[in-house]
Amino acid sequence: MDASFEGGGALDTGADGALYALVLAGEKDVKLPAVLALADRETGGLLSAAWARKEFTGKKGEVSLFPLPGGARRIVVVGLGKAESFSLEAVRRAGGYLAKQLKGKGIVHLAVELPSFTRGKLDGAEAAAALLDGLTLGAYEFRRYKADKPAEGISQVIFARGKGAKAAPASFRALVDRERKVLDAVLWARDIGNLPADVATPEFMAQQALELAKGRPLKVTVLDEARLRELGCGGILAVGQGSHHPPRMVLMEYAGKPATRGGRPKATVAIVGKGITFDSGGISLKPALNMGEMKFDKSGAVAVLGTMRAVADLGLPVRVIGVMGFAENLPGGGSYRPGDVVRAFNGKTIEVLNTDAEGRVVLSDALSYVTKTYSPDEVVDLATLTGACVVALGVDTAGLMSTSDALSTRLLSASAATGERLWRMPITETHHEMVKSDIADVKNSVEIPVAGALTAAAFLSQFVGDTPWAHLDIAGTAYVGKTGGSFAAPYTPPGYGAFGIRLLCQYLSRRA
Ligand code: BES
Ligand code: MN
Ligand code: ZN
Repeated sequence: MDASFEGGGALDTGADGALYALVLAGEKDVKLPAVLALADRETGGLLSAAWARKEFTGKKGEVSLFPLPGGARRIVVVGLGKAESFSLEAVRRAGGYLAKQLKGKGIVHLAVELPSFTRGKLDGAEAAAALLDGLTLGAYEFRRYKADKPAEGISQVIFARGKGAKAAPASFRALVDRERKVLDAVLWARDIGNLPADVATPEFMAQQALELAKGRPLKVTVLDEARLRELGCGGILAVGQGSHHPPRMVLMEYAGKPATRGGRPKATVAIVGKGITFDSGGISLKPALNMGEMKFDKSGAVAVLGTMRAVADLGLPVRVIGVMGFAENLPGGGSYRPGDVVRAFNGKTIEVLNTDAEGRVVLSDALSYVTKTYSPDEVVDLATLTGACVVALGVDTAGLMSTSDALSTRLLSASAATGERLWRMPITETHHEMVKSDIADVKNSVEIPVAGALTAAAFLSQFVGDTPWAHLDIAGTAYVGKTGGSFAAPYTPPGYGAFGIRLLCQYLSRRA
């Protein structure tokens, strides 16, 4: 999506759509809101007539079109909902509704009347970026397997700062341009995350990382089975051994721009992703219903991949190490089994009681390898780890489990800015007790089915040493499937949604 910046009002731009935002009117608002006065005059009173008939009121998700004389150009009015709940997220969602409802309506260039979006204390540039989020993400469709032509949507957004105003200053443009780079990474990641497991094998995913690094300041190392064996990564090898597609651990290093001339980047942050290209459960086989959704069990790793792309394109002054553990969890003659004991990279032994608790087994190697090899200042992992987290928090909020209050606070504030919701949950002494094994250091599954998201986190904490660490359980938020379909944000179409990329980019930008 292209973005340009102009002074004057949206109507002065000549674009085929001029967009105005409207908050929900109260009972006493009988007159057409003042923001629409000019547009009303230009349409010869169509807006005030429709307003009087209550054809539009500014309610959330409402998109109305009014032709300008000649019929070629249109006024677009989007409802933002209640004034009290007005926020950046409301603007982002409005963008999502617009993207869907304007598809095929002949509006390719959309001029945005910015003053109508910057109510209260909202910053103009941030509102513009949020609208761009919604318009871009809401328009996304995974089209790889579709033969029919897509309906045409908006290809350019023109940010008009209102009558009498000058075009946006450089800082405003910089923020919008930054967001466009992040969105490019999100769309790219969605195309990969949506690929089914017959295409997106561990080898394929490693290849994507190598291709991503071409022409970017990223160093990629792919550890294949032979190398993983030499290193003693017994977890990822065990999980992947039932598949004809062998596992891969992929490391991506972004050195980071020096924070000062001649200096070094501010910090080293490791981001780690669970990359199960398909999770059948293995010998502890899952039921058939919706098992196909387990092609999205690589979502954490795809988020890492997308974040690495954005971080490199943004040129942030922070060193970022991306680690992805790719394996396919299938039952077969070579599979790992319940009862097996495997040894992770850091030497700890894991008793496998359920082969379907495979994510933590893969992450045991990824987490311990990255903390030992790169000594990061902090580690953040993303994983579609537990159904229990979906039970606890549903499909709009990811679980945050962490050993660091400072890291958690920073992640929560980045989350508030991007609308990717997190909720912190505790890891207590009880959870540590619960994952102790009779015969090994730790067990991968607990017989009593309580606090499943938290015992999984307690397990992971065994593999990060003293490094400040945060774990994001994105099982409910990574993709829009059968469970959450009708509750998804309007800018998150069905399938893989790239949860975490905007959040991590925000986090890393602020860290820098
Ligand atoms: N990938 C699943 C978790 C999951 C569930 C992701 C629903 C997305 C939606 C994970 O590997 C898994 O199977 N976890 C088990 C753990 C259990 C066996 C301890 C679960 O949650 O049932
Ligand atoms: Mn599983
Ligand atoms: Zn899984």
